[in-house]
Amino acid sequence: MIASDLSTALLHLRDLVDDASMIVPFTGAGISTECGIPDFRSPGGLWTKNQPIPFDAFMASQEMRDEAWRRRFAMEESFARARPGRGHQALASFYRAGKSPALITQNIDNLHQASGIRGSDIVELHGNTTYAVCLDCAKRYELSWVREKFEALGQHAPDCDCGGYIKTATVSFGQAMPPEAMQRAEELTKRCDLFLAVGSSLVVWPAAGFPLMAKRNGAALVIVNREPTEFDDLADLVVRNDIGDALGPFIAH
Ligand code: APR
Ligand code: ZN
Repeated sequence: MIASDLSTALLHLRDLVDDASMIVPFTGAGISTECGIPDFRSPGGLWTKNQPIPFDAFMASQEMRDEAWRRRFAMEESFARARPGRGHQALASFYRAGKSPALITQNIDNLHQASGIRGSDIVELHGNTTYAVCLDCAKRYELSWVREKFEALGQHAPDCDCGGYIKTATVSFGQAMPPEAMQRAEELTKRCDLFLAVGSSLVVWPAAGFPLMAKRNGAALVIVNREPTEFDDLADLVVRNDIGDALGPFIAH
């Protein structure tokens, strides 16, 4: 059901949270917009300004790799300044209360780690943009090193000593999904009795398949998102309010 207003939504959400023995949060970019990081598909979102750089384009051309790093460094101030918002803090409260053993996220901004959830309990389906890796030998590179080289090379992407290309540790369109993360997400989705999708338009597969999988496995499905999603009629509760307003009351102080 779509809650008619915030107070009705909170009553139902409180009941579902209290009744649940295992809550699995599933987050998208919408949970980080109040932290100053734009999402992708809202008006003014990242994909309304730039086309995504598909993985094969990144691999095929130095120019695309340069553009990918230019865009990443242009975002550095927003990422570096961002702190966990009310949504992150509420989910961290469920985690500390033992209600959520782990969390699945499509986000790459490291804000769930910053909210106090252990990295090993965060399943990052699309990786993490706060560090880089070589695509051949998997060597880890810190962004400060990449940026220094990038500028010294006249805004050209540096390569690894092994000759491989260096990319943020994120998953681009057309790039293989991380198998362990997918496996862990499936295992969590099938075990939970409340699946809480927060701040995602649920349009990108295979990630968008998890709310469906949860529902099919008998879990209650809650969607907290300002815009409608394709899964709304499947959900036990849809909260079309601001995430911070909807989840803020669940922050344990
Ligand atoms: N409160 C409630 N909803 C919000 C808020 C907010 N403060 N801010 C944004 N939203 C909603 C938007 O209405 C939108 O439907 O969050 C949703 C974010 O959707 P997207 O921008 O599509 O982000 P996401 O679903 O995470 O994208 C999935 O797409 O490009 C890829 O890899 C990228 O992980 C990303 C994936
Ligand atoms: Zn290498």
